[in-house]
Amino acid sequence: MSSLSLPDDEQLRKDAQTRAFINRELQTRFALEDEVLRGSRERAQAENVPAIQISPLQGRLLQVLALSCGARSILEIGALAGYSGVWLARGLPRNGKLISLEVDPKHAEIARATFAAAGLSERAEVRVGPALTLLPTLVPNAPFDLIFIDADKSNYPQYLDWAINLSHPGTLIVADNVIRRGRAFQTPPPDESAAGAAAYNRKILEHPRLTSVALPIVTDAFEDSDSSMDGLAISVVRE
Ligand code: SAH
Ligand code: DHB
Ligand code: MG
Repeated sequence: MSSLSLPDDEQLRKDAQTRAFINRELQTRFALEDEVLRGSRERAQAENVPAIQISPLQGRLLQVLALSCGARSILEIGALAGYSGVWLARGLPRNGKLISLEVDPKHAEIARATFAAAGLSERAEVRVGPALTLLPTLVPNAPFDLIFIDADKSNYPQYLDWAINLSHPGTLIVADNVIRRGRAFQTPPPDESAAGAAAYNRKILEHPRLTSVALPIVTDAFEDSDSSMDGLAISVVRE
């Protein structure tokens, strides 16, 4: 081996192309979007809602996780246009229930339209308000079998406390955006969202009732944005 040589621009460009190629191939095989999922993105775009939904492969992962834990009740924090909600609700049985919390009434309305277009209105409900206000009202709906955290990152540690409150042994707690281009691992974290992600990661590692993993998600969906190099944490609640 020659001495350390960093990849040149040409190599970086090729690597990016390879990643995009692999993503496309995986997406085509495992997470092909139908009319409903495309419609959710298009509805959001038409209303100038930012395209910060999870990737199709992440959506498929959520669906597989819901099915694998036999989820009958799912809680989502952060609905946006209902894109992740459709993937989650498609992991529920016919009489299952998704409750999705959303602070922005415009997002909530688009999410409801998406659920209606998906034929999921019975199974998927959007509640409007700040999650920290709504979460205490969900005690009668608990326990949830799967909880997906994807709202404002600075409140992630508090969302985790609530998720554990609303869980049972075996509940899966999944959180998007826990890596933030690696900024979640910088000390001190350089911004509020990185700080929230860092605190969340520390908490799931230290919590005596959680067994957790975090995975990088590298997509070509949001070039130059944080989400092109972010990640997802999955925790199981134990006795
Ligand atoms: N889960 C969605 C993306 C969510 S984006 C998907 O993958 O399709 C984050 C969402 O959280 C935004 O719609 C934002 O309005 C909402 N949000 C931000 N702060 C919130 C809060 N305090 N309570 C509830 N929702 C919040
Ligand atoms: C943002 C939020 C998300 O949930 C995400 O996946 C990417 C970006 C944001 O608020 O910028
Ligand atoms: Mg997210």
